[in-house]
Amino acid sequence: MEEKKEKEIVLSGIRATGNLHIGNYFGALSKFVRMQQDDKYENLFFVADLHALTTAPDPAALHANVRSIVTEYLAAGIDPEKSTIFVQSDVPEVSELYLLLNMHVGIGELMRTASFKDKARKALGIHSDSDNIESEIIGNESTSKRVNAGLLTYPTLMAVDILIQKAQKVPVGKDQEQHLELTRRFARRFNNFYGVELFPEPYNFDFGGKPVKVPGLDGSGKMGKSEGNCIYLIDDEKTLRKKVMRAVTDQGPTEPNSEPTQPIANLFSLMELASTPDTVEHFRKAYADCSIRYGDLKKQLAEDLVALTAPIRERIQAISGDDAYIGRVLREGAEKARERAARTLSEAREVMGIRKFY
Ligand code: ADP
Ligand code: TRP
Repeated sequence: MEEKKEKEIVLSGIRATGNLHIGNYFGALSKFVRMQQDDKYENLFFVADLHALTTAPDPAALHANVRSIVTEYLAAGIDPEKSTIFVQSDVPEVSELYLLLNMHVGIGELMRTASFKDKARKALGIHSDSDNIESEIIGNESTSKRVNAGLLTYPTLMAVDILIQKAQKVPVGKDQEQHLELTRRFARRFNNFYGVELFPEPYNFDFGGKPVKVPGLDGSGKMGKSEGNCIYLIDDEKTLRKKVMRAVTDQGPTEPNSEPTQPIANLFSLMELASTPDTVEHFRKAYADCSIRYGDLKKQLAEDLVALTAPIRERIQAISGDDAYIGRVLREGAEKARERAARTLSEAREVMGIRKFY
């Protein structure tokens, strides 16, 4: 009999902090959907609600955000028949392994993580970009403003999400690379310390291309929920068109073959993601010979983004009221995710010497 080859585990998650935008779509969600087409992979996609608690905890918003992300996963094409869809907090094993793994993580390495420094500064309202974050945190903490320990240990929790499922491939945007690097370091350290091969080292996955960074419409480097420069998957056609038509541009090229400025380069990057290669080529040529009209480029870009998001938006509307369906998907997903997680947790407990007397 032919031996059944073990499938590679793919896992990724998105924090429950609001509706998904096209940065999330191109950087993460569209890759999740593509992973399903290859049956070499066993896919797990989850909503990181515990991670959402590290910034601005808000009980009513949290529950609604979990629901909207699950809805958006389903609407974008994640198929619960092919992939396990679950909510992070439905797998309590994650919280226990997070405690255990933290015993092997240094507070120094956590403090040096770029995302921690950014978020800590935001939490305390510090505008400097000095590297001396430790003393800034101690100096600026007050009764109303503090950096919580959950924010510091964010990378441990993310590492546990991945390691507890023994995932090897983690499709995420470029901004998550440092967290993956830490995950590999923690896995190696744990394995070496206990002389085991418990955790495989995970890598980002991008179908052979470079991890994408979707720019904002305000001329800035990155589209992000907290930047206020997003096109959301739920934006209706009118809103979407208005946002694109308002995108920041410049005076236009004055010399042939000049390098586009940042806002224009951003519009071209968006076009490369949403439009056909011919369309991109057409506008690049027009830019090179200075005949470009930004209004035309924006109209075309808006059209192509509408074509991409309209079917997703329709499905969001169809699914979002179906509590029974969402509940069923998440219950089944939680069961599957817990089964794998419980196995890994009991292996970790065993190697660490946590054994029962009864
Ligand atoms: P946000 O930055 O809007 O808060 P998240 O941090 O929740 O988004 O990101 C969820 C996923 O989407 C991650 O895999 C992240 O890498 C990806 N992502 C977010 N913004 C972008 C972007 N502008 N370009 C590419 N990928 C992105
Ligand atoms: N940190 C990720 C983000 O901000 C979300 C996340 C949490 C994640 N745990 C994960 C992504 C595990 C991939 C795998 O987008």
